[in-house]
Amino acid sequence: MSGFKRFAVMASGRGSNFEALMEAKEKGLLKHQPVVLFTDQKNAKVIERAKKWSIPVILLEKKKGESRESYDQKIWKSIEEYQPDFLVLAGYMRVLSSWMIGKMMSHNGYSKIINIHPSLLPSFPGIGGYRKAFEYGARIAGVTVHLVNEGVDQGPICYQVSFKINDLDTPEAVEKRGLEIEHQLYPKALNWIMDESFILEERGPETQRRSFVRSS
Ligand code: GRF
Repeated sequence: MSGFKRFAVMASGRGSNFEALMEAKEKGLLKHQPVVLFTDQKNAKVIERAKKWSIPVILLEKKKGESRESYDQKIWKSIEEYQPDFLVLAGYMRVLSSWMIGKMMSHNGYSKIINIHPSLLPSFPGIGGYRKAFEYGARIAGVTVHLVNEGVDQGPICYQVSFKINDLDTPEAVEKRGLEIEHQLYPKALNWIMDESFILEERGPETQRRSFVRSS
């Protein structure tokens, strides 16, 4: 299915990926339409960026002790009116509830929530992917764009790019190189994923079934 899709960006911090998506949109490199920014952090730099690009901002902080599901339901209520076809995570620092994942499940059985992760998954899940690769002494690092399922950083992989880091002396330098790649990759990956011209193919032994994303 092609045609342009509407998406909500969810971000908690700096927002360099959000900015890269907006720049790509302006240059005609991003086919689909960011319609709203959701953030859980009142001091997130991404808020200023969204205002600059005239994208509506929704800020909703999670209350202490509030369940993930109840928070996500509130988030959904606040973004629903923008009618997003997809949720795009860009440095969103919370784990989504099963409820939210169910809400964004396509009829074809894949999640319409997309994330960009700073490592070559399944290496270095969780936070600080670039630093972890550097501190481990890896010679290459990478970036992964994947669909979001209930496992943290475990959803079906759509795109991966690796880059060498053996010539770099600090984790900051690794991150800088990685972010440049992320900013190029994310718009391109979103164009492809949101066209929904793929199927999920089962792989692996029965006890550890994984989905492979194949162009259809
Ligand atoms: C990026 O490295 C992204 O891969 C990860 O969080 C970071 C967000 O950076 N999920 P920014 O807020 O987009 O600058």
